[in-house]
Amino acid sequence: MTLQLRIYVPPHPLIKHWLAVARDAATPSVLFRSAMTELGRWLTYEATREWLPTQETTVESPLASCPATFIDPEMPLAVVPILRAGLGLLEGAQTLLPLASIYHLGLVRNEETLQPSCYLNRLPEKFDPQTRVLITDPMLATGGSMMAAMAELTRRGVDPTLTRIVCVVAAPPALQKLSAAYPGLIIYTATIDETVNDQGYIVPGLGDAGDRIFGT
Ligand code: PRP
Ligand code: URA
Repeated sequence: MTLQLRIYVPPHPLIKHWLAVARDAATPSVLFRSAMTELGRWLTYEATREWLPTQETTVESPLASCPATFIDPEMPLAVVPILRAGLGLLEGAQTLLPLASIYHLGLVRNEETLQPSCYLNRLPEKFDPQTRVLITDPMLATGGSMMAAMAELTRRGVDPTLTRIVCVVAAPPALQKLSAAYPGLIIYTATIDETVNDQGYIVPGLGDAGDRIFGT
């Protein structure tokens, strides 16, 4: 079976609503942050379908014994927010995955070359190869930052087929790079936009996500 990158744009009205709020240039930082939290929550909800390992057992209800399904507490789960903007999606993701370990990765693009550089890396030396990893970053533009994040993760033993990316706006250059390098990867996004302009911004996009989250 040949693996192919899969990209899902869940057609959920709440996702559409919060994307519209985030895109609007008139949305102030405080509301933009709420939009990111909500998008983090609903996109993580969608991304964890058929990804969260469960175990079958039985429980005693007040009336009878019955079959029951629990999240497997032994299976390692990790969330990797790409700083800064990925922090905006973290709260929503963490609410749904309270037992996941959070590993911060700080990447910033050079404004001229658009090349990312890493200023903080809290990843463990080695991941258990069974670890399910959910990466949060609202913007996949040229794809340089996500390619750098994936390189750091796979170098430490992360299996791309157990990895999910939660983003808000994805653009073709990023999708092409990720598809060529990591065909087993799955991405959940609120939208796929058409282009990246000469300054590296997605159009129409939502502007600079990190600046809008933190009001800087
Ligand atoms: C933004 C965004 C991604 C990156 C996407 O981060 O959050 O990490 O740009 O662009 P790319 O696909 O072309 O690499 P930025 O470097 O602006 O840092 P910030 O999150 O601190 O604002
Ligand atoms: N990073 C952002 O924050 N916005 C873009 O449009 C592209 C990269």
